[in-house]
Amino acid sequence: MEVMETIALATPPVVSGAIPLLGHLTEFGRDRTGLIDRGYKEHGCVFTVKLGPQNVAVLLGPEHHRTFFMETDKTLNIATPYKFLRATFGEVFFMAGHEEYLRQRPFLTQAFRREKMAYYIEIMNQRVQVWLDALGDAGEFDVSATMGWLTQDIAGHALMGERFMAEAGPEFWELYADVGRGMDPILPQYLPLPKFRRRDRARARMADILRPIIDERRANPAAYNDFLQDFVNSRYNDSGEPIEDEVLLNLMLGLMFAGHETTAGQAAWNVILLLQHLDFLTLVQEEIERLVPAGQAVDGRALHALTHLGYAVTETERLRPSADMLLRDVDVDMAIGGYRIPAGWKVQVSAEVAHRLPDWFESPDAYDPLRFAPQRAEDKADRFALIGFGGGGHKCMGMNFANNEIAVITALLLQQFDLELLTRDPGIVRGVGANKPEPAIVRYRRKPQATPVAQGEAVGCPAHGVAQVS
Ligand code: HEM
Repeated sequence: MEVMETIALATPPVVSGAIPLLGHLTEFGRDRTGLIDRGYKEHGCVFTVKLGPQNVAVLLGPEHHRTFFMETDKTLNIATPYKFLRATFGEVFFMAGHEEYLRQRPFLTQAFRREKMAYYIEIMNQRVQVWLDALGDAGEFDVSATMGWLTQDIAGHALMGERFMAEAGPEFWELYADVGRGMDPILPQYLPLPKFRRRDRARARMADILRPIIDERRANPAAYNDFLQDFVNSRYNDSGEPIEDEVLLNLMLGLMFAGHETTAGQAAWNVILLLQHLDFLTLVQEEIERLVPAGQAVDGRALHALTHLGYAVTETERLRPSADMLLRDVDVDMAIGGYRIPAGWKVQVSAEVAHRLPDWFESPDAYDPLRFAPQRAEDKADRFALIGFGGGGHKCMGMNFANNEIAVITALLLQQFDLELLTRDPGIVRGVGANKPEPAIVRYRRKPQATPVAQGEAVGCPAHGVAQVS
């Protein structure tokens, strides 16, 4: 943040098109990226969008991203803009407020520790292979919908384990859907609306399902290796007490939400973008054939070696970030880019627009994964240039998990099938949670050498090495 007297400064210029009372609210709902793009063209990297009575300062580019992320938990508040999520996920993560977040953070960092990644990669391989085995020799699927349930299935297995998924899976997912449908950023969360009632009933039923499972986990602390077991085994640093059942449920729900729809969107786009760019697809195919021929699992070592696939995954983050905008509340007047941002305003960063700034990315609208190869390394010029996973102290804890998952899905799919994109140019569906592609049909044909593995059986998984694709 610039250190200067803020009082003499003007607030950032307002983007054209604001109408009385509503400001840009309607346009924001219809096409928020178009609105922010126009703001950039009119005013540069700092400008104001008016959402009804709420002023939002939009900040674009690494310098301002740095302020946004580094001032979070100081002058900028991350908890209040997301408070609508509390009724759904309870008091966990940054929604809980900073002090409680700091109490819970060790559980999360523990569950995401490096040594666990090999196990999660093994699960990813198993679940993707179950899907691929069920595809038969030829057919079509909608990659957008498929990635939705596949990433949900992977997250469920990694979070709660095989047995839980087998016993409680289908009912749990129906309840989870009811919880998700109850998310509403506008309406007061405790109104007696049917969707809020269903959300609360679903949460209560999920707690009933989880309770005996948690009891069994507490009695057998060494029997499982998933997130749930890590949380069950954890204790608060200050009190030495185990995590309460209610908080455990909230952590599981919160991680499902944070982890699956975001990953689904980028996983689907990763496949689509490759199928739209056949030259680069050929490079990735060649790499897969050489490093993970048919019958081999995509373990950590292979993921590390699949460099072109890694560049593609990062290019997908750049061009099609699932989390296209992040918000903070301004608690204290601040100066940014020569403007004053008063307390009470919101600030917003927009990955989708910032990732196309020509000062940071060469030919920014082009799909060009080699921009991330060591000779060019456009992502390394400034650590706040690429913000698809956020930045600073709240940077996504699941980033490696997600990137590895997207790479495993893409690698196994291309290892075993020839693909053709029938929906040539799917648009972007922007939701409350995460972005995803419109329905996009892919035609597939099993490659002659790819023998299906029996349903439910794990592909061989040496499970060594820790992959970090990006
Ligand atoms: C492509 C997939 C993903 C994307 C695009 C994504 C994006 C993000 C972003 C942008 C943030 C920062 C939010 C902010 O600063 O306001 C974040 C935080 C977080 N994400 Fe992810 N995420 C993804 C996958 C995952 C997965 C798979 C998990 C867990 C299994 C996960 C868990 C989290 C958690 C726990 C936080 C909060 C970190 C903190 O406050 O310290 N995410 N994610």
